Amino acid sequence: MSQLQVRPIRTLDAAFGVPGDKSISHRAAILGGLAKGTTTIRNFLPSEDCVNTLNTMRALGAGVEILRELDGHGPLDLRIEGRAMKLQPPAEPVDCGNSGTGMRLLAGVLAGQPFESSLFGDASLSSRPMGRITTPLGKMGARIETRGEKPGCAPLHIHPATLRPVSYTLPVASAQVKSTVLLAGLFADGRTTAIQPAETRDHTERLFETFGIPAVRDGHAIHIDGGRVPAACDLTVPGDISSAAFWLVAAAAIPGAALRVTNVGLNPTRTAILNVLARMGAAIQEHAHTTHGEPIGDIEIRGASLRGTDLRLREIPNLIDEIPVIAVAAALATGTTTIRNAAELRVKETDRISTVVENLRLMGTDVTEFNDGMEIRGGAPLRAAAIDSHGDHRIAMAFAIAGLFADGETTVTGTDCIHTSYPGFAAHLAAVQNHLTDPAAYQLPTRTPA
Ligand code: S3P
Repeated sequence: MSQLQVRPIRTLDAAFGVPGDKSISHRAAILGGLAKGTTTIRNFLPSEDCVNTLNTMRALGAGVEILRELDGHGPLDLRIEGRAMKLQPPAEPVDCGNSGTGMRLLAGVLAGQPFESSLFGDASLSSRPMGRITTPLGKMGARIETRGEKPGCAPLHIHPATLRPVSYTLPVASAQVKSTVLLAGLFADGRTTAIQPAETRDHTERLFETFGIPAVRDGHAIHIDGGRVPAACDLTVPGDISSAAFWLVAAAAIPGAALRVTNVGLNPTRTAILNVLARMGAAIQEHAHTTHGEPIGDIEIRGASLRGTDLRLREIPNLIDEIPVIAVAAALATGTTTIRNAAELRVKETDRISTVVENLRLMGTDVTEFNDGMEIRGGAPLRAAAIDSHGDHRIAMAFAIAGLFADGETTVTGTDCIHTSYPGFAAHLAAVQNHLTDPAAYQLPTRTPA
């Protein structure tokens, strides 16, 4: 099992980009595979999760040509020849690996097909709730069996079905559930509506528009009309702000540190972490380069002595994936940070309330666990520790960042999972630890396939 050894740092002065956005990469592969014509995707995230989704579209008949790869990982730039909505049955059960997004969105695509299919994943994914998608898909006429050992969990077995449109009010603020319903709606005859209880990331709506499918927004409701065929397009995936978050926190917590994260997504449904770090005392500037489709730009951050803050109800869906590393920032801040209304964390790749609380305590932080969050009383020096990622990529990376502030060498074990979202994290960590300032030192090696 792989591990990371992390030594403390005292300064950080760097400018670099992080790999492509995971949420957008999944959706681009799916819509590219459904579209009519050839879509070019640049800066795709070559992580295990997204490669599984791309392979699924290939198994459903899409043609994939790889133009450039991240060495040792997967495709960065690719062309995908879509099926104009006419998919072919997959020869084998579909492997979604560790990815809830992959499994849920693909179930939306497969629910309305004239053929059978099965979706399975690893142990973590097989214990995550799938009722949240089988319920709305069932209302649309889908016939999906959850065949997991745990009730309501994967593997999913999807029977052939003809879908009808629905108007569905989501019981949880989940972009995955919203996207599943909207993707299934593409195959239903009529207008499908997803109504979210709070705003969630809107990449599906934006990408529908990019592929020429109107996604009509009306407050928290989104309508789409079935029967349309997405039109192939060229797109560039922005850097993933959820990956940038690790370095933003590292820089924020070192007074005098300066970091510029380049070409990162600045979609306002994802940038609440910047508001939180600003409230904690960091100085942050956004420099947008392009605002059409998905806004992309640079984030400049200067570190400070952080102070605690309370996360706001509306911010939670916007920064749900950043909470483990925000908890680390809270441990480094003086005063109290409160995170409530975040019970969704319990059904992520791990129960992230318990894995964060356990690891913060190991490092000497005073923290109270609640059903729906935690209260962190920060400011005590962090103790170097042996941290278990529990197979969760964001726990592994968040506690590698904590290790940069500990009083000795921290070991994070079980770090293979990092490949599900951030190939190249270990190289970036090494560059930060070696105080490298040249952006070239952060460039990950790429190759053109023969
Ligand atoms: C995602 C939505 C979020 C997030 C996940 C990716 C997406 O999940 O945690 O990492 O791409 O739609 P929920 O929408 O289920 O909260």
